[in-house]
Amino acid sequence: MIIGTPLSQRATRVMLLGAGELGKEVIIAFQRLGVEVIAVDRYENAPGHHVAHHGHVIDMTDRDALLALIERERPAFIVPEIEAIATDALAEVEKRGGTEVIPTARATQLTMNREGIRRLAAEELGLRTSPYAFADSVEELEEAADRIGYPCVIKPVMSSSGKGQSVAHDAETLKVAWEYALAGGRVNRSRVIIEGFVDFDYEITQLTVRALADGEIETYFCEPIGHKQERGDYIESWQPHPMSERALSAARDIAQKVTGALGGRGIFGVELFVAGDDVYFSEVSPRPHDTGLVTMATQRLSEFELHARAILGLPVDTALRSPGASAVIYGGVDAKHVRFEGVPKALAVPGVDVRLFGKPESYEFRRMGVAVASAENIDVARQRARDAAACVRTIVD
Ligand SMILES: Nc1ncnc2c1ncn2[C@@H]1O[C@H](COP(=O)(O)OP(=O)(O)O)[C@@H](O)[C@H]1O
Ligand SMILES: [Mg+2]
Repeated sequence: MIIGTPLSQRATRVMLLGAGELGKEVIIAFQRLGVEVIAVDRYENAPGHHVAHHGHVIDMTDRDALLALIERERPAFIVPEIEAIATDALAEVEKRGGTEVIPTARATQLTMNREGIRRLAAEELGLRTSPYAFADSVEELEEAADRIGYPCVIKPVMSSSGKGQSVAHDAETLKVAWEYALAGGRVNRSRVIIEGFVDFDYEITQLTVRALADGEIETYFCEPIGHKQERGDYIESWQPHPMSERALSAARDIAQKVTGALGGRGIFGVELFVAGDDVYFSEVSPRPHDTGLVTMATQRLSEFELHARAILGLPVDTALRSPGASAVIYGGVDAKHVRFEGVPKALAVPGVDVRLFGKPESYEFRRMGVAVASAENIDVARQRARDAAACVRTIVD
């Protein structure tokens, strides 16, 4: 890989599709390597816009608008940061050549739809998953739930951050679950997945990197990340999550297979449920994972640096440097242009760092920042991250 000079004819140019807090960190990693970055989001002044060389605001689900922008900017790499993208545009760009889609256009297509990735994992790769079915109407949902049993989880096939997702404990609640899924789906398409509820002991993110080593793609694993979910989003994560040797090896086997089937280079967040030594595949993001924000405190190379390196064909190192944890800082209020108090107090907690994303608008449960902490063990790190996050409060004037 030869890297050019930014803002010149010889620049190595990367386009981020989605410029939220995860994209912002990926952009910073690229900046440090002397790469020219174009940040794209659906609203102005998104976190990644603040740190990129160029910023654009477009509707990325609009195929023609996306194609036109790519044509204009002609980046060497397109790096999707979100799922809601017109992925057929990416497929077209990939076919034309000259621009590489990370990890591949097909991977972005398969993983944006719960049906695509679930069928690949369970039916083609034979991985252990919850029992599941798909439904296009309340009647089909009732029939499927009957077959799968209760409790079961109902999700729109196209959605993220827990949107439109609910747990049904009996047939009576299915109608409500159906309406909720329709309202929460990303596209105007009434298809849901019904999953048997997995009574797991814990859930992890297995960050997995496909990167070049001596000209061949190798698979690398980070230490498992434990996390807690609430309202469809993660609120706390920690690394390394302790696992039995059998569970860890099953987790890595699943991660290797599913990322191998998706192909390409980059980091993947493989979400897994663990019950005893049994590991269930849940879903996978072909990009950095929000629970992986913790790696800014724990790894020599954060998940964002790993992604940037893997994309550029550079060597990676997934070594853990210290146990650590992250805790989310929420907006707490619905308001524009908020200010933050309590940062000095948060940073006085030992081993702590704070990231404020700079989002122009706060909502009660919008992630506005994160506290990350390192410590000698995950219990101390979790306490530190939680304490620090609790210090930071939004003020509205
Ligand atoms: N089949 C299931 N059994 C038990 N818990 C589940 C199941 N599916 C989802 N969950 C819980 O809900 C969270 C969000 O589900 P997920 O499928 O990852 O949706 P999203 O794409 O919105 O992240 C999971 O991290 C897990 O805590
Ligand atoms: Mg998830």
